[in-house]
Amino acid sequence: MNEIPRVTEATPVKATPALPDAQTVTDVKHYTDRLFSFRCTRPASLRFRSGEFVMIGLMGDPDPGTGRQKPLLRAYSIASPSWGEELEFYSIKVPDGPLTSKLQHIRPGDEIILRPKPVGTLVHDALLPGKRIWFFATGTGFAPFASLLREPQTYEDYDEVIITHTCREAGELTYGAELIESLRHDDLLNEVIGEGFWKKIKYYPTTTREQSPRMGRITDLMRSGQAFADLGVPGISPETDRAMICGNLAFNLELKALLEDYGLVEGANSDPQTYVVEKAFLD
Ligand code: A2P
Repeated sequence: MNEIPRVTEATPVKATPALPDAQTVTDVKHYTDRLFSFRCTRPASLRFRSGEFVMIGLMGDPDPGTGRQKPLLRAYSIASPSWGEELEFYSIKVPDGPLTSKLQHIRPGDEIILRPKPVGTLVHDALLPGKRIWFFATGTGFAPFASLLREPQTYEDYDEVIITHTCREAGELTYGAELIESLRHDDLLNEVIGEGFWKKIKYYPTTTREQSPRMGRITDLMRSGQAFADLGVPGISPETDRAMICGNLAFNLELKALLEDYGLVEGANSDPQTYVVEKAFLD
């Protein structure tokens, strides 16, 4: 998902009609020089649960010896909800990342490869019932929550939905902020859950390297109690609170430890508990 190496060179992507598992790009939106989102057609056979990920990619460069090309695939959380007609993805751009150096140049009409085998731990099925759900994201880790925030079950199952998003710079919050704002006018959610459902949502964006209304890592803000005071909640307890984590590796590990200090227990599809962490989202 995230790619570590950084260079500047990038090659435009050409549509290749013979791609296996090809889907057509329908829309692309760039947020910063590091972030973009795109939409593509949805394979008729693809059923997934909001919060899951699939492998997507492009054909790699030809092998210098044989000239043969192999698919270059990475795990991407599906950012659109399970009921969406199209699929949406939210991606980082790494200048010399094998995939994202190319993927960042896709345009409507281009094709991408999408293996229609969804998996993942950030699903409602992996959590026991609770009163309040926390979605903890950094950077493009917001993607599975963009799906879950548009999923009616999220509001059917919980009285309060808290989404925290920590990014380096303010511009990196735009995708999430726009998504949250769009929920107010989401016809399906207003109809199924009822007008004013969005009042269940508490959005808590923070930045760490650029000035914004709320500064700091969410982990530090929880430890100091500031985040709970700002959100008007008593804290996190296994009786009432459930959580999902999706961010960079250090963040995932630190938040896991913090949640376990509060008494939460990691769950899985086969063993629902009180929190879950994304396994595919590593940098
Ligand atoms: P910081 O700027 O203090 O490193 P990245 O873009 O590197 O994936 O980071 C995304 C955000 O996650 C940044 O705001 C970064 O803060 C924050 N972050 C990185 N590691 C941790 C951690 N262990 N706990 C909390 N936040 C973290």
